[in-house]
Order: sequence, then structure tokens, then C-alpha cells
Amino acid sequence: MKITVIGSGYVGLVSGACLAELGNDVVCLDVDPRKIDILNNGGVPIYEPGLEEVIKSNVAAGRLRFTTDVAESVAHGLVQMIAVGTPSGEDGSADLQYVIAAARAIGRAMTEYKVIVDKSTVPVGTADKVKQAVQEELDKRGLDPRFSILNPGFSVVSNPEFLKEGAAIDDFNRPDRIVIGAEDEQAIRVMREMYAPFQRNHDRLMVMDIKSAELTKYAANAMLATRISFMNELANLAEKVGADIEHVRKGIGSDQRIGYHFLYAGCGYGGSCFPKDVRALKRTAEEYGLPLKVLQAVEDVNDAQKSVLLHKIIRRFGENLKGKHFALWGLAFKPGTDDIREATSRVVMEGLWSRGATVTAYDPAAMKETRHIYGERADLRYAENPKDALHEADALVIVTEWKAFKSPDFNVIKARLKQPVIFDGRNLFEPADIKALGIEYHGIGREG
Ligand SMILES: NC(=O)c1ccc[n+]([C@@H]2O[C@H](COP(=O)([O-])OP(=O)(O)OC[C@H]3O[C@@H](n4cnc5c(N)ncnc54)[C@H](O)[C@@H]3O)[C@@H](O)[C@H]2O)c1
Repeated sequence: MKITVIGSGYVGLVSGACLAELGNDVVCLDVDPRKIDILNNGGVPIYEPGLEEVIKSNVAAGRLRFTTDVAESVAHGLVQMIAVGTPSGEDGSADLQYVIAAARAIGRAMTEYKVIVDKSTVPVGTADKVKQAVQEELDKRGLDPRFSILNPGFSVVSNPEFLKEGAAIDDFNRPDRIVIGAEDEQAIRVMREMYAPFQRNHDRLMVMDIKSAELTKYAANAMLATRISFMNELANLAEKVGADIEHVRKGIGSDQRIGYHFLYAGCGYGGSCFPKDVRALKRTAEEYGLPLKVLQAVEDVNDAQKSVLLHKIIRRFGENLKGKHFALWGLAFKPGTDDIREATSRVVMEGLWSRGATVTAYDPAAMKETRHIYGERADLRYAENPKDALHEADALVIVTEWKAFKSPDFNVIKARLKQPVIFDGRNLFEPADIKALGIEYHGIGREG
């Protein structure tokens, strides 16, 4: 099948590459010429495990190409998959300008039937807006799809994406479910054909009305964010009452109705999805006169939790951190990605800087992104490796649970730090084990 993917970011590139791998003929479009240049020169503009290999093999096989040429990309795909960003607008609602721009571009250039797929995370009602935008462009051209000789009709489908950065290839290839919101048989047939290879093991396709599909994606992310904030708030209580949140987690996770997944206490969620999707769903609910009080709490708890490490550091070293230096392990909002959008590391670093401290940071994947945002500055040093970051620091602060941080050489940590103090925002270690090594340890939800 000929497929065009509009937007070559985390979702667009993974979707495009994986669909090409299945034998489809895929063109990925982006408005950012820098990204397309990198891709056309054999590089990959983002870090996602396994993505480079899939892209390279499919480019070599002639099934995957990249372009900035809208006319070419619209002409190519029967399926036009919109995978552009939907960042938060000022009022918290999803900013749909990129989605609508993509829809208009299709309407301006299409000359035959297209299935336009909203893969971006978009609020309820967006498919109608996309339909309207395409129709307006067709009208401007004097092409009424019903009566034109060219008969360029189109369908709009909602097909939200549930992949996780860091495990995106696997998630795309082995989805728990494929949600299709559609209202016409022709579009459903095309979607069934495109996703047929994913159905071999069992039926994963869930066809529903468009609004339910749009809401499903937000509901999923809001539920996951709720679990995290619930555990974080409980962790803070555990600390106060002298309980250990890790015991509590195991105790409740064993209940099959609760389960162990997504039940870790930590220093807050970040990234390009949970924060903005919680905000957007809240906004939608407000627009319909039904504020979601649970989600307001989820957001408030998370905003506070992103500063929990900072508060622990201040409690230990005082409000004035002038002359203090901290080693920071982990900049990405989670392991397996270079994405630092709304990452807790940024709240921690900026809080330390504003109190006069300096930081040496290390991350296995996100150094380039961090440099891109913060550049060269006197209070930030970029380390070559985790050990290098420790040199002469007053304490080690762990923000992201990368595998490479899970079994460090504690003797090296002790030797390199000015004083052996660890602030562990992801509960990577057992407090008793670390204390037995003569290291002062501050975890989340685990101290009296
Ligand atoms: N990142 C994730 O883990 C994830 C998971 C599921 C869903 N989503 C959703 O998928 C969507 C895309 O997210 P992302 O993380 O891939 O974003 P991203 O910012 O990495 O990529 C978006 C790309 O779209 C391009 N773009 C913008 N307007 C365009 C246009 N008119 N034509 C062509 N290209 C255009 C941008 O240049 C950018 O490269 C968002 O709605 C997001 O919420 C993301």
C-alpha cells in the first residue's frame, strides 16, 4: 500500500519505518528541512533504540523515502497519516495549528480519493475540523468531491498511537490494540488492509466511532498519569509516617485488579505526552462544563513532585546553595530516549542554579538535546560518562532510571564525591544496602 506520513518526529518516523518494513511503499514528509536532510544523508534526527536499523534497511530496499515536497507526498499515499505535534496552547488545550496545516496541504493538492488518518493525539472533535479544513481547500479549488470529474473524495479516520518512546519499535509492531475511529466502510476497509499484518496472532483492531477513538487516547494517558501521581502522593505520606513505599507498591501491585505496571513512586512524570495530554483533557472537560477534578489533582501533585528532589537537597544543604556542586545522572524524561521535553531534570537543574549551585550532568542519550536547550554556561558542565560527572560534587542526584545507573561502583562514587550523599529520584537502590556502604541515601517515600 502507498502510505504518506506527515511529520517525521518520534511517532511519524517509527510509524513510517515500521509500515515500510511490512512491505508498504512509504513517503515521510516534514516541514523541517534540517530533519529531512539528516534522514536523506543516512542519519536519524532522534534517538530511539532500533530505529536507525529499520530506517536504513527500508531506505536501501526502496520502500522508504523522505521529502519536504508537499505535492509529492500528497500525490503518493492513498493513506495520508498525520503525525505532527500537538503541543499545549496557552490555555492548556491542544494546539491544532500543525494538524490543520497538514490537512489544508492535503486539500490543496489531492486529486484522488485519500484516507486521512489522525495519528497525532487530538481532542474530541478534531476529525470534524480536519474534514472541514480539507473541504474548504477543495471548495477553493472548485472541486466538490461529490460532483467533480476528478471525484477526489476523502475520508477522515482517527487512529491514535499508543507507542512509548524508548520501546517504540516494539510497541508499534506488537500493539496491545489498534484503535480505529471511522464512520465509512471504505476507510475501515483500507485501515483493515494496512493493519492486516498486525492481526495474525489475534484481532487487535477495535473499530469505534471517531469521538470515542479520540477520547480513548487521552483517557489512557490520563489514567497512567493518575497512577503515577497517586503513588507519588502516597510516597510522600509513607515518608511522613515512616513506611516504605516500595513495600507498599509490592503489597498493592500483587492485587490483579491493580497490577504492578506504572506503580512506581519517583520524582514526577515529564515528556512530550503525559503533561500536555492531561492538560488538554482537562481543558476539553472544562469546555463541556464538566471539570475533571481528579485530573487537576494529578497535575498539581506532579508539579509539586518534580521539585521533591530539590526540597530534599535544600533540607540537607540549606536554601543557599552558593558554592555547592552537584552531579546529576539522567536528563531524559525517561530511559531509552533523548527527549527532555518537560523533564524533571530541568526543574532540578534550574532550581539548583537559581540557588547558586553548579551542576555536572550526564545522560546516555540526551546530552545533545540538553546542549541544544541550555548551551554553554558557567553553572553547567557536560560530563563524558557517569564517573566523570561525580568529580568533586557535594552529592549525586539521580533523576532518570537508565539501566547504566542501576549497578554503579559505589566505591568510585564514594571516592569521587566530596561527601558520600545520594539523592535517588527513582528508588534504584535499597536504602539499607547503600547506608551499609557508608553512603547517605535519600530516596522517594522511603525515609522516616
Ligand atoms: N512521542 C510519543 O511518545 C508519542 C506517543 C503517542 C502519540 N504521540 C503524539 O503524536 C504526535 C506527534 O508526536 P511526536 O513526539 O512524534 O512529535 P515531534 O515533535 O517529534 O514530531 C512532529 C514533527 O512534525 C513536523 N511537522 C509539523 N507540522 C508539519 C506539517 N504541516 N507537515 C509536515 N510536518 C510537520 C515537525 O517538524 C516535527 O518534525 C503528537 O500529537 C503526540 O502527542 C506521541
